[in-house]
Amino acid sequence: MDRIHFPVTRRWAFLDHAAVAPLPAPAVAALAEYATSLAQNGIAAVARWVARVREVRALAARLLNADPAHVAFIKNTSEGINWVAEGFPWKAGDNVVLAAEEYPSNQYPWMNQAHRGVEVRAVASRGSRVAIDDIRAAMDSRTRIVSLSFVEFASGYRNDLDAIGSLCRERGAYFFVDAIQGLGVFPLDVSRAPVDFLSADSHKWLLGPEGIGLFWIRPELIEMLHPIAVGWNSVVDSTNFSKIEFRLKPGAERWEGGAANVAGIHAMGAALQLILDTGLPNIERRVMELTDHLCEQASRAGLEVFSSRAAGEASGIVSLLASGRDPDALVRRCRDAGVIVNQRAGRLRVSPHAYNTLEEIEQFLDAI
Ligand SMILES: Cc1ncc(COP(=O)(O)O)c(C=O)c1O
Repeated sequence: MDRIHFPVTRRWAFLDHAAVAPLPAPAVAALAEYATSLAQNGIAAVARWVARVREVRALAARLLNADPAHVAFIKNTSEGINWVAEGFPWKAGDNVVLAAEEYPSNQYPWMNQAHRGVEVRAVASRGSRVAIDDIRAAMDSRTRIVSLSFVEFASGYRNDLDAIGSLCRERGAYFFVDAIQGLGVFPLDVSRAPVDFLSADSHKWLLGPEGIGLFWIRPELIEMLHPIAVGWNSVVDSTNFSKIEFRLKPGAERWEGGAANVAGIHAMGAALQLILDTGLPNIERRVMELTDHLCEQASRAGLEVFSSRAAGEASGIVSLLASGRDPDALVRRCRDAGVIVNQRAGRLRVSPHAYNTLEEIEQFLDAI
């Protein structure tokens, strides 16, 4: 991935993609282009932007190997999770199984179903790992959904989506994946993987802006969910405003009730194009090379690797123990040295993307 696309490299060694990624230049140009078009044309340019929204939906579908009809744009990961949590046909006594270390967005929407009699079962991690045996043990005949992150935000643990999804299939449960910390680095082929719902904002590894992301639903499940937040755009003849006929669109677009975030979609499309042009296998290889180097060298800076680096479990997030040193102070020290990293759960978190360099990893270690 060419560094020339990343203006951030002029100022920072930016190693915090697990938080909010810097926008690549093509996405910046897209935002400016849309703003200019809107300023000069208002709705007179609408046909072009309707076509662009269709184009970006197809790009998103390509990333997932999905049919564009089953992809919806969301304002953030939480929104996609809520579409399922609020629309699911719960019965009192049902339960949802998730990891206790999940990001709050993947816990509160499920906890918010308590008034329907839904129980949330939070499975504690074993050190840096979410153990599939513990997920299995937490499930019973009333488990309707297992909801996990592709990659856990604090530990960087990459869940085995095939194994967990297969477990769900065996037990008659659905599998929801919060994909925000993995999508853009690791392939996720929904035509093959036993995943039922997926949600991810674009502002991390997908390199898009905040406030726009992707939702995917297995087509057989569309009718099972009650669509919340419907609007003019949810129905089949959506631009005939004087005809009121409440016939929902057959695909995932029924959840996109009102006006689209065209600026965000256009910019996310530019970032998706960059990712697809680079190729996920190349991105994955590079991110692994950078994080492997970091883990090999961490002890030189007095850091201990907390994340699992086992094959299939490692990710772009490296969580580091700093042996009693204050992680906030270390984050500040790095920033003073021109290096952006973060801390989560009391540990340093370093998350390079494919355009970063081994020199930037060294810069981080030197700063520590
Ligand atoms: C695993 C995970 N899910 C979701 C989010 C963000 O949620 P949203 O896109 O709703 O802001 C984050 C952000 O850090 C995250 O790490």
